[in-house]
Amino acid sequence: MHFTTILLTVAATLALTTVQGTSPRPAVNQTAANLKVMNYALALEHLEAAFYKQGLAKFNSSAFSDAGYEGLVRNRLALIGQHGNWHVIALSNAITKLKGTPVRPCNYTFPLANVTTFLTAARALENTGVSAYLGAVSGLRGGMFTVEASVLTVKARQASYLNGLWNQTGFPYARDTPLTPRQVATLTSKFIKSCPYNITVKPFTQLTATLPANGTGNITTSFRGRRSNETSLYCQLRYGAKIAVSTRNNCTLPADAIGYIYVLVTDTKTPITARNENRIVAGPALLFNDNRNNSVPAPTTNTIPFPTSTTISTTISTTTTDITTMTSMTSPTMISVTPMPSPTTVG
Ligand SMILES: *[C@@H]1O[C@H](CO)[C@@H](O)[C@H](O)[C@H]1NC(C)=O
Ligand SMILES: *[C@@H]1O[C@H](CO)[C@@H](O)[C@H](O)[C@H]1NC(C)=O
Ligand SMILES: *[C@@H]1O[C@H](CO)[C@@H](O)[C@H](O)[C@H]1NC(C)=O
Ligand SMILES: *[C@@H]1O[C@H](CO)[C@@H](O)[C@H](O)[C@H]1NC(C)=O
Ligand SMILES: *[C@@H]1O[C@H](CO)[C@@H](O)[C@H](O)[C@H]1NC(C)=O
Ligand SMILES: *[C@@H]1O[C@H](CO)[C@@H](O)[C@H](O)[C@H]1NC(C)=O
Ligand SMILES: *[C@@H]1O[C@H](CO)[C@@H](O)[C@H](O)[C@H]1NC(C)=O
Ligand SMILES: *[C@@H]1O[C@H](CO)[C@@H](O)[C@H](O)[C@H]1NC(C)=O
Ligand SMILES: *[C@@H]1O[C@H](CO)[C@@H](O)[C@H](O)[C@H]1NC(C)=O
Ligand SMILES: *[C@@H]1O[C@H](CO)[C@@H](O)[C@H](O)[C@H]1NC(C)=O
Ligand SMILES: *[C@@H]1O[C@H](CO)[C@@H](O)[C@H](O)[C@H]1NC(C)=O
Repeated sequence: MHFTTILLTVAATLALTTVQGTSPRPAVNQTAANLKVMNYALALEHLEAAFYKQGLAKFNSSAFSDAGYEGLVRNRLALIGQHGNWHVIALSNAITKLKGTPVRPCNYTFPLANVTTFLTAARALENTGVSAYLGAVSGLRGGMFTVEASVLTVKARQASYLNGLWNQTGFPYARDTPLTPRQVATLTSKFIKSCPYNITVKPFTQLTATLPANGTGNITTSFRGRRSNETSLYCQLRYGAKIAVSTRNNCTLPADAIGYIYVLVTDTKTPITARNENRIVAGPALLFNDNRNNSVPAPTTNTIPFPTSTTISTTISTTTTDITTMTSMTSPTMISVTPMPSPTTVG
């Protein structure tokens, strides 16, 4: 599973390229930095391309209509898959042009039991993809930034379409949640069976999170391993630009969490940002709150409070923080707490 190797190499690069402060900056080889981010993106696109290829090969238009979806839905999925193929080709070509080596695909395993599991996984992958690209684009400069940002906007459109298949809003929040490479690896590693590379860094522990049955109440979490019985752990919910922190046994679903929700179990009540990612005990897990449907009333302009600057409360129960007021999640310096991996070739 070389995937994680790439992720960590990317993390190290991001840390190098964004060190702030008065001390002299290390010389940055921006071409090398761009290449690493592009190979991170390519690893994700390989996974997606294989996913749509396998899913569409397995389920023809009859399978979709038998599952209750109109013919248009499969065509849309095919177009998303086609875009994925295009991204693989475009990224590979751009990497080669910069004299890099495009990362090779892995062997994957996808939940393709039926059309519903196919669509469920597609929705999870595209929403994760938006967060992955959002967390990574800041490491790019020049024309490559525009290339990747233009892929990011398309991913957001695709995620929006897929959310709509559940009759949910495609745009639940005013801003989206960036994820770090290690967090993305946690969400995608279950799809990777083998890679022609060695794993150098493990994703975080897999977390299972379950929404309260009727859309109000507590999210329950479970994971395996040494720390699973610890009593003083916390639950952190990241949705949009917000982080809600509570004790693990009282992981209350916030009323405004009406779309995707990344669930983390942590050993700190300090909101997880790029700086303290090592305090994650398990997760993220990705949930979609489909209990709020389109009958949620649209806000009227005069009821939308203008965001104000707040300090992070240290009181526990549920503390919701708008990370607008915090160090950007994409600040890669938080990733620098991870030991720098020795550079590996990707090809
Ligand atoms: C920058 O990195 C690229 C890609 O790894 C490499 O080809 C190039 O020689 C490096 N440039 C310098 C000045 O080190
Ligand atoms: C879809 O595949 C099934 C077999 O899995 C086959 O019976 C059916 O004719 C196919 N439908 C179309 C439209 O190709
Ligand atoms: C994928 O599996 C096939 C056999 O099923 C094997 O030949 C191939 O090397 C594997 N590829 C990777 C990238 O692990
Ligand atoms: C699809 O597969 C999943 C997982 O095996 C199963 O739980 C679900 O009931 C199936 N749905 C349909 C509609 O067959
Ligand atoms: C979405 O709404 C349509 C039309 O009301 C309905 O047929 C379909 O079952 C709904 N889908 C879901 C996943 O709720
Ligand atoms: C992977 O690890 C094995 C055992 O540690 C080592 O023999 C092999 O050379 C490594 N392969 C790569 C591609 O780094
Ligand atoms: C939802 O579930 C909670 C706890 O299970 C219960 O207290 C509450 O009454 C339920 N609400 C509705 C609307 O059913
Ligand atoms: C959530 O969990 C806390 C602590 O276990 C409990 O006191 C509270 O009643 C739960 N809330 C709901 C709505 O079930
Ligand atoms: C956690 O607690 C349960 C019940 O007390 C026990 O069976 C299990 O072995 C414990 N797990 C660990 C990892 O300590
Ligand atoms: C949508 O939500 C409203 C209010 O919670 C509820 O009355 C309605 O039955 C829901 N509709 C669907 C299709 O779930
Ligand atoms: C659980 O969280 C809710 C919402 O923040 C809070 O009102 C309640 O006091 C908490 N309950 C416990 C037992 O901590």
